[in-house]
Parts: sequence; structure tokens; C-alpha cells
Amino acid sequence: VGAEDAAYLISKIRTIPGFPKEGILFRDFMPALADARAFGILMDALEAALPVSADDFDVVAGLEARGFLFGPALAARLGKGFIAVRKAGKLPPETVSQSYDLEYGQASVEIETNAIHEGVRVLIVDDLIATGGTANAARSLIEKCGGTVAGFSFVMELIGINGMESLGSYPSSSLVRMP
Ligand code: PRP
Ligand code: ADE
Repeated sequence: VGAEDAAYLISKIRTIPGFPKEGILFRDFMPALADARAFGILMDALEAALPVSADDFDVVAGLEARGFLFGPALAARLGKGFIAVRKAGKLPPETVSQSYDLEYGQASVEIETNAIHEGVRVLIVDDLIATGGTANAARSLIEKCGGTVAGFSFVMELIGINGMESLGSYPSSSLVRMP
């Protein structure tokens, strides 16, 4: 991605201070999706920055909700299928679930029991990594089902809170790094 395109994309990421609570700088991607040029730049960049070759994974998994905006678009470009990793309670049984820590309390993610077969190689996609709690929960879930995590693709990485480090040695990429 050229400097001009990168600047254009970044200009379409909106920052809302104090949402959803005091002290948070909320990074909002909706303007980058609404704008055809920015969305095109974003998807080209996500594809160009894949942390592994497209030959090294079979499916893309996206994390509810904002991973559903980019994951299926990336999967379609690459000729791959898409698996939805959902927040707890949204899928009919049978599901496999994995709980994880939030800033306050706990949450769980789930996939359908038969969504991932033994040995399937998965690229995990989300809009943003903060603490890495959500991404690591998705990884545990996929591994519980016998899948192999090939890597992680994020649009944005929040710096200073060690989210990427929390992923360990899995290949990972992010397009934009901001506090
Ligand atoms: C956001 C974001 C990531 C997660 C990152 O989702 O889309 O999934 O937080 O935070 P972490 O790295 O500290 O886990 P959120 O849980 O706000 O849900 P949403 O996508 O449904 O808005
Ligand atoms: N998810 C976790 N932290 C976030 C932030 N600062 N902006 C947008 N989404 C987030």
C-alpha cells in the first residue's frame, strides 16, 4: 500500500474518546467500510499482509461481531470458506465453548461442534487486537476442535498493552498500530 492510500485509509478510522467508558480511545472502522476507496485499500492491504501464504490455511475464522465485517470479505477474495466464532448463547446446540477474561468479569466464545474438522488449518481474522483475550480464546477453541491455527490477521493493533505478544509464536499481522 502506497503512502497516499495508507493516509487515506487512516483518515477513515474514527476515534471516539471516552466510549464506551472514561479513559478509552474507541477506534471505529465503520467510516472505512462506508467509503468504497478506503474499503478497497483496506482489503488489498489485509490480503497483502497475510501472516502466512494463502496455501498454508484452509479456512478463515472471524470473531463476532467486527471480525464478521472483514473475515468473509477476505475469505471470498482468497477462495476460502468462513467460520463464525460467536459470542456465547447465539448458536443452536451442539457447540464447543471457551471462556476468557475481560477487563471486568468473563465472556465466552463458541463455534458449532462440527464446524472444524481434525487437521483443518485456520486463519483467525478480527478488526482489532487489544489485550489479546478474544483472539487467544478463539485460538483455544479452534485447537480444542482439532484445528490448527495458521495465524492471525488484524486490521488494527492497540499498542502498549502487549496484545500481539500474548499470541506467542503464532504468525500474526496488523495493518495499523495505534495507542
Ligand atoms: C472488540 C474487538 C475485538 C476485541 C479485542 O470486540 O472487535 O474482538 O474487542 O479486545 P481484546 O484483544 O482485549 O480481547 P468487542 O468484544 O468489543 O465486541 P464487538 O466486536 O461485538 O463489538
Ligand atoms: N476493543 C477493545 N478496545 C477497543 C478500542 N479501543 N477501540 C475499538 N474496539 C476495541
